[in-house]
Amino acid sequence: MFIRHETIEKNAFLMLILTLLVISIGGIVEVIPLFTIETTVEHVTGVRPYTPLESRGRDIYVREGCYTCHSQMIRALRDEVERYGHYSIAAESMYDHPFQWGSKRIGPDLARVGGKYSNDWHYAHLINAQSVVPESLMPHYAFLADTRLDLDDLTKRLKAQRAVGVPYTDEQIANAQADARTQTDTNADQKALLKRYPKAVAVGTGGTITEMDALIAYLQVLGTMVDFADPANENLRQ
Ligand code: HEC
Repeated sequence: MFIRHETIEKNAFLMLILTLLVISIGGIVEVIPLFTIETTVEHVTGVRPYTPLESRGRDIYVREGCYTCHSQMIRALRDEVERYGHYSIAAESMYDHPFQWGSKRIGPDLARVGGKYSNDWHYAHLINAQSVVPESLMPHYAFLADTRLDLDDLTKRLKAQRAVGVPYTDEQIANAQADARTQTDTNADQKALLKRYPKAVAVGTGGTITEMDALIAYLQVLGTMVDFADPANENLRQ
């Protein structure tokens, strides 16, 4: 036994091969069950594709690099859960292409920022963060309020999302333009929109639709889709 061990120790190449073998066994034992067991991704109710407006807001979030300072993943640790709310679950980002989990937190995690502030707060904060949080070092995004949102390719964008697996229905795609307009007018009848996209938050009061409207609509839905008090989601209680 010891003599054989000496052979391994004196032969670096053999040692390397055997080390890799042992490590890969460990890795396989950890990884294989994740591909087979059903419980790897929890089944939840409430997660839906983004409204056309939220989805454009998300594009702006990515374009502006908000993820370089904000994560969107609440970890299952007590301090995180107490600060931000229920830890993030995989299903909540299943329609995100690409996901925005991130790991850099110069600002707070935004996974459950939806509903935490009013639309007006977000508006003021994005225009000039220091006007509402004096010690903030977040950059200003006032130009978003002056930039008209390009809605022309909305239908194509939703179709592209569908091509990568987001289950937009034909009805949702046909109504993309109308839904974006409805969501940017708090005075409009939101019934049809809410039926297609529950919990969508209306922003703005009609008029020109700006990139700011889209970004706020996106921020307001983050983390609100899953109702953790719903008995159907009982397996997710903390
Ligand atoms: C340079 C880093 C940085 C960038 C880039 C940045 N932020 Fe922030 N953000 C912060 C910091 C720091 C705070 C905490 C202070 C405050 O509330 O302003 C913050 C706070 C926030 C809050 C309030 C969160 C809460 O729970 O109180 C929101 C919402 C937010 N940012 C959205 C955005 C969006 C949207 C973008 C992209 C358009 C963005 N941030 C880009 C640093 C950043």
